[in-house]
Parts: sequence; structure tokens; C-alpha cells
Amino acid sequence: MKFFIDTADVSEIREGLSLGLVDGVTTNPSLVAKTGRGFREVLTEICEIVDGPISAEVVSTDVEGMLKEARDVANLHPNIVVKIPMIEAGMQAVRVLATEGIRTNVTLIFSPTQALIAAKAGASYVSPFVGRLDDISHVGLELVEQIDTIYQNYAYETEIIVASIRNPLHVLEAALVGADISTIPLKVMKQLMKHSLTDVGLKKFLQDWEKVPKA
Ligand code: G3P
Repeated sequence: MKFFIDTADVSEIREGLSLGLVDGVTTNPSLVAKTGRGFREVLTEICEIVDGPISAEVVSTDVEGMLKEARDVANLHPNIVVKIPMIEAGMQAVRVLATEGIRTNVTLIFSPTQALIAAKAGASYVSPFVGRLDDISHVGLELVEQIDTIYQNYAYETEIIVASIRNPLHVLEAALVGADISTIPLKVMKQLMKHSLTDVGLKKFLQDWEKVPKA
């Protein structure tokens, strides 16, 4: 499974890169706002340090506006993937962008039929938001399973990015389903490596090593 990092914070991206866990990056307007920096400035820096797909989201809600923003941002770097919201105008935009060879990531996916429509429109990626579904007592991973089944039934090449990941269990479930990609906050990436028994075991090994005569 590919790991994308879900952040616009360059220092977090650098840390994820040093762990070897960044195959790509996903951003959204909320994540960019958190950095306090300008959109283009942040994106340009991310493109300089990451060699993989980098999702940058449009904020227009009409087709022409989305197309203008999409072409503009796609021009920044070949690794840019344009994130488009799952609305009617968005699907029209995705269709046009696909003919222009501009890759898209359809975001805010909360149902399997939305993912089917996005694939039919020619999306390169879809982003089902599992955490936000869990928040309202829907099992987010069931959505990923259904999308995966639909895509396999019709051999769609659209890749599934499991998004809105809040904890290691989300990543485990995504991996068991066989999702193509998980986009993960840095904190969760680090949690994936942790186990209290590993810490206890290591402490004991190091204590015992002190008893070994040093030749
Ligand atoms: O990139 C979109 C996303 O992962 C949102 O996560 O935690 O705001 O639901 P969250």
C-alpha cells in the first residue's frame, strides 16, 4: 500500500520523508489554512521536496472556475494532482481535465455511487473520508470495501485513497481491504510503528546487555 501524508505542513512532510513513509501528499484548504502560508508558496515547496503525486484542491464550485484553477495549479509541476469536490460541476470538470491529461483526485466521497460516478468521469483517484463517516456512526471502511468491489467489477483504473484517517486501525483496515493508498497524518504514521511491548522488550535487552562482560 502506498502512503501519502495528509498535511500541507512542510516540516511534517520532511519528517515523513526521513521516515521513508511519503509516497505522495494530500492537502486541502483547511490544511493549507493551518500553515498560515500562501497556497502557491506551500505547493511549490512541497513539489521541490516530494517526488510523488501531490493533491492540491480547487475552491471554485462552478465548472469554468474549477477548470481555470485546475489548469493553473497543474502548471506548477507535473506531480500536481487536482483535487475536485464530488459535486455535479466537479464531475463535469473532471471529464474535461481527463481529456487534457490533467490528473484528478475526487474528494469528499461518502457513498459508493459517488465513487462510481467519479470513476466514470475519468478521475485518477477518489478519496473516501472514513473518519468523518465513523464520526456519524457509519462504518467508514465499509465504503472502501464497496468502492473496491465496484472498481474490480468493471476494471476501473481509478485508485482509492483512504482519507480522513484518524488512527492506526483505519490504516490496518484499509490494508486488509487492499486499498491502493492511505493518506495519513504524521502523528498516525508514527503511531503505526509503536508498540508498548516493543518498548518494554527493548528496555530489557539493553538492561541485560549491561550485564554482559565488556571484553
Ligand atoms: O485530506 C482530507 C482528509 O483526510 C480530511 O481529514 O480528519 O479532516 O476528516 P479529516
